Formats: sequence, C-alpha cells, structure tokens
Amino acid sequence: MGNTNPKLVLGIETSCDETAASVVTEDGQILSNVVFSQIEDHQNFGGVVPEIAARSHLQKIDGVIRQAMSQANIKFSDLSAIAATCGPGLIGGVLVGAVTAKAIAAYYSKPFIAVNHLEGHALTVRLTNKVKFPYLLLLASGGHTQLLFVKGVGQYQELGGTIDDAAGEAFDKTAKLLNLGYPGGPAVEAAAVKGDPKAYNFPRSMCQREGCDFSFSGLKSAVLREVEKLDQITDQNKFDMAASFQQAIVEIMMNRCKNALRMIHQPMALVVAGGVAANREIRNGLERLAQKKGVEFVAPPLNLCTDNGAMIAWAGMEKFLLGRQDPLEFLPRPRWPLSSLS
Ligand code: KG4
Ligand code: ZN
Repeated sequence: MGNTNPKLVLGIETSCDETAASVVTEDGQILSNVVFSQIEDHQNFGGVVPEIAARSHLQKIDGVIRQAMSQANIKFSDLSAIAATCGPGLIGGVLVGAVTAKAIAAYYSKPFIAVNHLEGHALTVRLTNKVKFPYLLLLASGGHTQLLFVKGVGQYQELGGTIDDAAGEAFDKTAKLLNLGYPGGPAVEAAAVKGDPKAYNFPRSMCQREGCDFSFSGLKSAVLREVEKLDQITDQNKFDMAASFQQAIVEIMMNRCKNALRMIHQPMALVVAGGVAANREIRNGLERLAQKKGVEFVAPPLNLCTDNGAMIAWAGMEKFLLGRQDPLEFLPRPRWPLSSLS
C-alpha cells in the first residue's frame, strides 16, 4: 500500500467472554468487526468461568482474526500496527490476545500497542461520532462503573465510581436471582418491558449525597428481600421487579451524571459507554438529562457498547497516531485503572 492509503490497525479483544478482532482506518471506518461470543460455554454456570473462557479464546482467536482480515480484504503487511487488550480483565484470556498480537507484530515487524480495555470503551464515541475532547463519560460495564472527565487520549480524571458492585454486575446478579437467564443485562431489560417500574420502590443509594459515587449492593439486596417475602414468585412478579430495579438504576445514573456535570463547571458532551450503555431505558434517561442541561448526548451503537474488537483497534489507532507504541515485553495486567494512564 502506498502512503496515500489510510492507516490501518488490527485490534484484538479477549478480556472477558468475547473473542473479537476488527480492522479500523484512521478516518474511523470499521472495515471488519468479528465478535465470537462464548455465551453458550458459560450459560450453564450463570456467569463467566475464567478457565473455560481462556481455553475458548485459545481455540477461536486464530479463526476470528483470519475472518477479520479477510472481511477487511487486507494482508497483515498492510497493517500500520497491531493492538490488543492488555488488561484489565480475566488474565488467562488477556494473555491469549496479547501474545497473539505480539506474535503478529514481531513476525511482520509492525508496532505493537497495548490497549487498556476501559480506554477502548472510553474512546469508542470518537470512532462512531467523532466526539471532541473534553467530555464527561459514564463508563458502565460488568466490572466497572465510573464517571470520568475525559481530557484526551490517556487522560482520564475519575470524578466518582462505585463503592461496591458495578452496574453490570448488579444486572447480572439480579437476573440470576430472578432466574431470568444469562447474560443478565439484556435479560432484565427484556423482562422489564412487561413489568411496572413503580411496582416496587427499590432504594436509590447515594442519591442524597454530594459527588458522583455509586453503590448498587443495597439495590440487589432489596430485590432479594422482596423475592424472599413471596411464597411463590409469578412471572409478573419477576417482570415488575425487573422493571422497578431497572428504573432505580436509571434514576441513580441520571442523578450521578447531573452531579458530575455540575462538578466540571463547563458544558460538554455527556457520553455513555460499556456494556450497560446498551440499555435503552438508561440511554433514554441520560438523553433526557442532557437535553435538560443543554448538552449533547452521545452513546455508541448497541453492538459497540458491549465488548468488541473495533473499540480496541480504535484506541490503538488513537495511540498510534500520537506516535505511541509498546515494547513486546509489555506485561498484561489483570488490574489497570484508567486514572493510572496519565
Ligand atoms: O463492556 P462489557 O461487554 O464487558 C465488560 O467489560 O464488563 O459489559 C458487560 C456487562 C454485563 O454485566 C451485561 O449484563 C451488561 O454489560 N449489559 C447490559 C445490557 N447489555 C449488556 N446491562 C443492562 N442492559 C443491557 N441491555
Ligand atoms: Zn467491556
């Protein structure tokens, strides 16, 4: 490829239960985005089993990358860099993706870029909507729930975070409690459609407090207490509990984002990202808040909220365009807070 062709980055994601690879261009085109979900492998256990996940990543990774390259219709030698999630996440899976990316980079003498999974979520709206820095980000996934002031690539100031469970974890645990299926978030959302959000008055923890920290463990316990009160739980009980639980989360998110917008003292876009951002009621609630406050609201398309390779390829591209790359000795990290990047 000549110099006039756009730069291309391959991104690999293996930090949880999706084996994913994608090729993106520097101008934000997604040439391929292949996601192999391990849902069936973990369904019987009601959650992700790390050893099973690592083994499954190992089995699938080559085929997923091959498919991403052939859909993009390019050769490895056309790539500008290879990026992979290097944490935070389940370390067995992270190692599979990181080692594969390093091997490709070494063989083709291309730069290797270690991407923080959370940074992948954080920068997705710059791929999909070309959102300018700075922005306020609600990052809500299975393992994390944080409000971040995003100033630039690698520059994240945490304004608040959860003091116990992550929002996605609360969805997953509630789904398990109500026997709604796995993964929990989409299952609760589907059940909530058939329920009454006012049927139960679940706690809106932290909402009376200053700042923008979160707490979800009381909410989950409140659902458990209601379940225990019933001799027999009907489907309608479950739908009502799912709807009331989801309503509590929506109101908590709106309350915390309102405080965060006040804390940053300047109007800027409100962005939501991470798996929980796929929830339509949460998106609608945050959009209403943004409208009221006169700021832009941006959420990635649903398939780019949950884990995927495009977000890793794009974060890799942003770093590559700034001249950053990582040594092949870079060690994957099970824990890797975003605030440590700056
Ligand atoms: O970002 P993600 O795919 O993986 C992590 O980095 O954790 O997020 C997965 C989380 C899970 O807890 C899942 O239940 C939740 O996102 N989730 C949802 C929805 N779709 C996925 N939560 C609420 N509503 C949804 N529609
Ligand atoms: Zn994620």
